[in-house]
Amino acid sequence: MTTANSTPTDNAQQNSKYFRKALNDLTPNNIGQLKEVNKVLLGDELGQAVYDDALKVGDFAKLALFNDIIVGGIITAKSTVAEAKKNKVEIVSLAVLPAYQKLGLGTMLLDHIINTSETQLAGSEIHVRIPTKDTAAVSFFTKRGFAASGDPKSDTQMFVRTI
Ligand SMILES: CC(C)(COP(=O)(O)OP(=O)(O)OC[C@H]1O[C@@H](n2cnc3c(N)ncnc32)[C@H](O)[C@@H]1OP(=O)(O)O)[C@@H](O)C(=O)NCCC(=O)NCCS
Repeated sequence: MTTANSTPTDNAQQNSKYFRKALNDLTPNNIGQLKEVNKVLLGDELGQAVYDDALKVGDFAKLALFNDIIVGGIITAKSTVAEAKKNKVEIVSLAVLPAYQKLGLGTMLLDHIINTSETQLAGSEIHVRIPTKDTAAVSFFTKRGFAASGDPKSDTQMFVRTI
């Protein structure tokens, strides 16, 4: 039941059996909606080149849908770590709108990238750079097998998971 004090997340959790959660491909027609989601969570820091490249990585970028509405997404970039001769999958952005957080969508998006890396890029590393003061994001990734790597750079820290 919706009450004056309940948040959308409370309502969604209480009524979760009525909701559909799904992932979908990024296309030129829906990428504008992911941009809007990312603006809310990450500000304007991602340039147009990030979105142009996201349309070229296939399964390595996905949208999260809640009842067919785009409420989140993940963008990654693939490259090679020359010295380690390993494939690198860098998480450029992972975001879920606040009202739809804690429903499992962030985990669905990250698990999708982990599974895709396992099947398409065995022996790869997934990298994500997180602001050191963002304890929620640090906790989210460390609980999912990521470990701090190298020295912190200004106010951010790289976290890595080996596949
Ligand atoms: C990090 C982020 C993507 C996580 O998204 P999310 O959709 O809330 O992720 P999940 O719902 O899968 O998991 C979040 C927590 O909710 C819990 N949860 C999931 N479903 C739940 C439910 N039905 N009821 C209660 N809790 C639930 C999960 O167990 C998890 O807790 P844990 O980390 O202690 O295990 C989101 O918080 C976000 O967009 N943050 C801002 C941007 C950011 O920091 N991005 C990361 C760096 S790029």
